[in-house]
Amino acid sequence: MRAIGYARENRERFVSELEEFLRIPSVSALPDHRVHIDRAADWLVEQLRAIGLNAETLPVEGGHPMVYGERTDAPGRPTVLFYGHYDVQPAEPLEAWTSPPFEPTRRGDDLYARGASDDKGQVFGVIKAIESVLRGSGRLPINVKVLVEGEEEIGSPAVLPWLNRHTRKLACDSMWVSDGMLFAPGVPTITTGLRGLVYTEVVATGAVRDAHSGMHGGAIPNPLNALATIIAGLKDRRGHITIPRFYSSVQPPSPQERAAWDQLPFDERQYLRDQGIETSPGEEGFGVLERRWARPTLDVNGIVGGWMSVGAKTVIPAQATAKVSMRIVPNQKAKVIYRAFERKVRNIAPPAVRVEVRELAGSDPVLIDQSSPIVQSASAAVCEVWGRDPAYTREGGSIPIVSKFVNVWKIPAILFGFGLPDDGHHAPNERFHLPNFFKGIDTVVRFIEEAGN
Ligand code: BES
Ligand code: MN
Ligand code: MN
Repeated sequence: MRAIGYARENRERFVSELEEFLRIPSVSALPDHRVHIDRAADWLVEQLRAIGLNAETLPVEGGHPMVYGERTDAPGRPTVLFYGHYDVQPAEPLEAWTSPPFEPTRRGDDLYARGASDDKGQVFGVIKAIESVLRGSGRLPINVKVLVEGEEEIGSPAVLPWLNRHTRKLACDSMWVSDGMLFAPGVPTITTGLRGLVYTEVVATGAVRDAHSGMHGGAIPNPLNALATIIAGLKDRRGHITIPRFYSSVQPPSPQERAAWDQLPFDERQYLRDQGIETSPGEEGFGVLERRWARPTLDVNGIVGGWMSVGAKTVIPAQATAKVSMRIVPNQKAKVIYRAFERKVRNIAPPAVRVEVRELAGSDPVLIDQSSPIVQSASAAVCEVWGRDPAYTREGGSIPIVSKFVNVWKIPAILFGFGLPDDGHHAPNERFHLPNFFKGIDTVVRFIEEAGN
């Protein structure tokens, strides 16, 4: 209990340290922010050292540095690896922010900043929990490793191969992932599944240069029209994806899982109202939660090409690009789905355009074993701190590294986040509800104590 006391006495300091972290604009997608990526990694290493861990940044070839810390002086006790990411999404559109994204600002109980909830606040909470146990009780009852990456938001392209070269360093009995959210305010939630992701870019090329649409229209191919044809051909009227064998390995959720989802405090009509829409366009026969968590999807994230500014410029672009992604579910495989997608796109591409398909990011889906000891310890900790049993839900998002640990290395994992669904992940005015920051820290403290028993 001394650790919980320490955590509570130091809440204000924890928040001001978090604010320092949030001031570093460590956007992984923007190459000119590389200095801030490095600065965020160095800042975290200093933090880990200050609380008594052996810590270092590890270079990742062709990517962003990995932050690694450990304290493994509990022989015979389990080793838990805590994972999170220090990179954040771009803050654009800047004009939509009430206070600047990298000037953390408190309004009421919320702290507003890019990365406040995804994922700096959550990973920092774990570090403060480790500090609290160490300072409060003088020792850690388990061996602890901390791994914080800097390219999760771009699909961890260089980190995934890096992992293979560091298996010894990363060896652990279980993994705690601090990068998710509660199902609803006051509902502590253990995430039992993540969707995977196949993110592609389809580039269509027509004539050698942009052309006058009056002089040449009708006689030369239009890459934008071609992309529209391709995109329209990837789904049928019922919202079903038309890629051959796309659904053949989809494993439906178990009847028990479905029954548990039916018990969640979730009102589909309210969800639609919150989104400002009247109907959900997904597949017939599936509820909104199942569509978001357990069904695969295909979406266009952006189309670039032709005249994108004001007014009417008559032009047929020489080239156009569509960013097309698929969320995939157990037991689909990113590699297999990508190949099937590429084949389908080539088959339905109109003649006269050249089409190139590129794979930008890939991640396999994850299912968590709910009966593992780490889930039991986490569930006990949650009960104590939140005064109720956790809900068990899946999430529709993806975390590439987790698939490596869970699917390939067979490490039991717990996904417990303390963000809220309306924290504005990836959106303007991202925020973190500070009472959840504090409860999250308490939960991890109790978890560490439980896991050492
Ligand atoms: N924290 C999210 C993943 C997530 C979302 C977990 C919702 C739980 C609930 C993560 O930072 C993220 O945004 N991941 C990307 C991964 C992609 C770039 C490979 C995603 O899901 O789009
Ligand atoms: Mn995240
Ligand atoms: Mn994210």
